[in-house]
Amino acid sequence: MLQIHNINTFYGKAQALYDLSLSVEASEIVALVGSNGAGKTTLLKTLSGLLRPASGRVVFLEKRIDGRPSYAVVEAGISHIPEGRRLFPDMSVRENLEMGAYLQRAWKQKGESLEEIYRLLPVLKAREGQLAGTLSGGEQQMVALGRGLMSKPRLCMIDEPSSGLAPVMVDEIFHIIEGLRDQGIAIFLVEQNVRHTLEIADRAYVIENGRIILAGKSEQLLSEELIRKAYLGL
Ligand SMILES: Nc1ncnc2c1ncn2[C@@H]1O[C@H](COP(=O)(O)OP(=O)(O)OP(=O)(O)O)[C@@H](O)[C@H]1O
Ligand SMILES: [Mg+2]
Repeated sequence: MLQIHNINTFYGKAQALYDLSLSVEASEIVALVGSNGAGKTTLLKTLSGLLRPASGRVVFLEKRIDGRPSYAVVEAGISHIPEGRRLFPDMSVRENLEMGAYLQRAWKQKGESLEEIYRLLPVLKAREGQLAGTLSGGEQQMVALGRGLMSKPRLCMIDEPSSGLAPVMVDEIFHIIEGLRDQGIAIFLVEQNVRHTLEIADRAYVIENGRIILAGKSEQLLSEELIRKAYLGL
């Protein structure tokens, strides 16, 4: 579904991604794990059109999307749920969700999409009129997920959804993400919570200093010496 071929991305003269290649198939959860500053967010921004790669190719559903503006990437069927959630705190839950349907095609169907999201995340229906800034961290993450679904994506890229959440909330968010995959939405999941992520992901890539250093099926990676030592503290 998504193929990334030899992407190089820079901030000015500083290179952040080096010849990075990976793929995501439909109906997979693929994880990208790595520590602070490894380049995870940079990759998502490169895919969603916020950064332009200096070289390399990105193909989504057989179409080139590298270098395309963000709205075109959303239109192609990719939704980016950003690090830190980025909600509008003084707007209601419903208004925040509607912000995810800004493309004409999605806007026409926004009533129907809202109903679907409320079915999937009933807590958002209950809090529809509440200001987003007054929600708990877990509820805010659910709004961010819901907003990302309003564009009816085929692939959701989710940047560190577990960040700052209590363990029970992390379980719930990961469970929701598995549910999305089971509904046929492919997931590209960026995380520092390596153990939990490998437990729900089908495959994973490990990124260090802007390079993929390891890739494989999640259960293989969980028993990999390097992962156990560097990321699981075993
Ligand atoms: N706007 C920017 N300008 C210059 N350098 C940046 C910018 N954003 C990130 N970088 C650098 O690019 C590298 C990768 O950063 P990135 O934010 O992609 O890491 P990350 O893996 O998402 O880390 P974290 O887990 O902390 O979110 C780091 O060396 C970082 O300092
Ligand atoms: Mg990041």
